Amino acid sequence: MSFRLQPAAPARPNRCQLFGPGSRVALFEKMAASAADVINLDLEDSVAPDDKAEARKNIVQAIGDVDWGDKTLSVRINGLDTPYWYRDVVDLLEQAGERLDQIMIPKVGNAADIYAVDALVTAIEAAKGRTKRIRFEVIIESAAGIAHVEEIAAASPRMQAMSLGAADFAASMGMQTTGIGGTQENYYMTRDGQSYWGDPWHWATAAIVAACRTHGVLPVDGPFGDFSDDDGFRAQARRAATLGMVGKWAIHPKQIALANEVFTPSEAAIAEAREILAAMEQAKADGQGATVYKGRLVDIASIKQAEVIVKQAELIAGR
Ligand code: COA
Ligand code: MG
Repeated sequence: MSFRLQPAAPARPNRCQLFGPGSRVALFEKMAASAADVINLDLEDSVAPDDKAEARKNIVQAIGDVDWGDKTLSVRINGLDTPYWYRDVVDLLEQAGERLDQIMIPKVGNAADIYAVDALVTAIEAAKGRTKRIRFEVIIESAAGIAHVEEIAAASPRMQAMSLGAADFAASMGMQTTGIGGTQENYYMTRDGQSYWGDPWHWATAAIVAACRTHGVLPVDGPFGDFSDDDGFRAQARRAATLGMVGKWAIHPKQIALANEVFTPSEAAIAEAREILAAMEQAKADGQGATVYKGRLVDIASIKQAEVIVKQAELIAGR
């Protein structure tokens, strides 16, 4: 480990972030009653320009009126390249109640984007005497965002989570696909007449995880557009979980259970992690730094790997 210790990410469950347009008030109670850990009420791309003002009013009202239970409550504001975002921030911070936990900033390109929002939020919090500090989550969904991913993760102590937004990311990168996440037909290799698909999201996913883990931020996988394809969602989510992400968005309620399933460590995985910890306790008692578990090497690094799973399980169980 470097002299500078890796900071812990926020200790809260973030297996599924459920989205709903701020213009569809009828969905709010259903979202609150869902099994998602995080609720993202949207003012950005699922709301038409003519509906932005109404959606803001709906959301301000619902933050106070709806019982959001113990969920993390977040509102996605409009991007900093639009004429809408400042009004989103001003209305939310001036008018919405203290139940609001976070705002999500889309399409961030560099640390200065966060700085600008932070300055505005900080001023309004002080002016209005808000006692709860609003936290930030961001979406990496542009070439600039991924190029500056580390400075973005480090941009503010308000930073809590960072998601990969596959659709806007693909467009910004000039990728030849209209799919939102998942397998892309033309990303493959061949051998002996067989095709083998690779994961075009791998690099961006790993870059986000590294930036987040360096700065104590939760890395999250974004939307999977084809909500009729459960297997495709599971495969995408499992790859993200394997690379270190803690959760995934749901853009339809049927994706919530899938995300919770993948990002909740299984009973078998928890049992194995505990057995590895026990085996290492025994090794330590015997004066050894390494031992054999089920025919394979486990050593001091295995303790840290096993602890990732056990801590995640305890966090979810304590919800
Ligand atoms: N949250 C909670 N409940 C939702 C929901 C959501 N995001 N989307 C749909 N539902 C409810 C419906 O109201 C319906 O409830 P009912 O059984 O009580 O009638 C049920 O789930 C089935 O909905 P369905 O008819 O399949 O979907 P739809 O046609 O109403 O809406 C979408 C489909 C994709 C338009 C809608 O899910 C949606 O707007 N998703 C979020 C989009 C978004 O926020 N995008 C921005 C981030 S990428
Ligand atoms: Mg987007």
